[in-house]
Amino acid sequence: MKVALFTAVLLSSIGLAHAASADKGQALVEKANCASCHGAGLTAPILPTYPKLAGQHADYLFYALRAYQVGNSNAQFGRNNAVMSSQVQAFSESDLRDIAAYIASLPGTLVIKK
Ligand code: HEC
Repeated sequence: MKVALFTAVLLSSIGLAHAASADKGQALVEKANCASCHGAGLTAPILPTYPKLAGQHADYLFYALRAYQVGNSNAQFGRNNAVMSSQVQAFSESDLRDIAAYIASLPGTLVIKK
């Protein structure tokens, strides 16, 4: 019982309790038009300095998106980028997990999937 409770608290604190929905993430990504910079399928960026996203690990994507939200308010964790900070401000943490799940599900060349 204690172990189950502890596990539940631990999982919710690291966010695994929320089952991310790639479908919801797709709707959010399309509405925000992330492809206008990251390109078709989020794998053909419009400028060489913009990153490819498709297929990247969901954990990595979630932390990157959160880091843009946090920005300079946490110098240890935040990513200070004016373009991406403005893109992510409106999203809840659970939205970001959904977005990450969707992007991770897309075919891409960034990571080798087991
Ligand atoms: C106006 C252009 C633009 C739009 C629109 C845009 N991005 Fe970005 N994105 C960038 C740029 C530029 C970077 C690189 C920023 C940096 O150097 O940290 C980036 C970086 C990222 C990264 C980090 C990638 C990595 O490998 O660390 C993620 C994740 C991301 N964008 C997701 C999104 C999502 C999701 C959306 C839609 C909600 C979006 N972007 C919309 C320009 C854009």
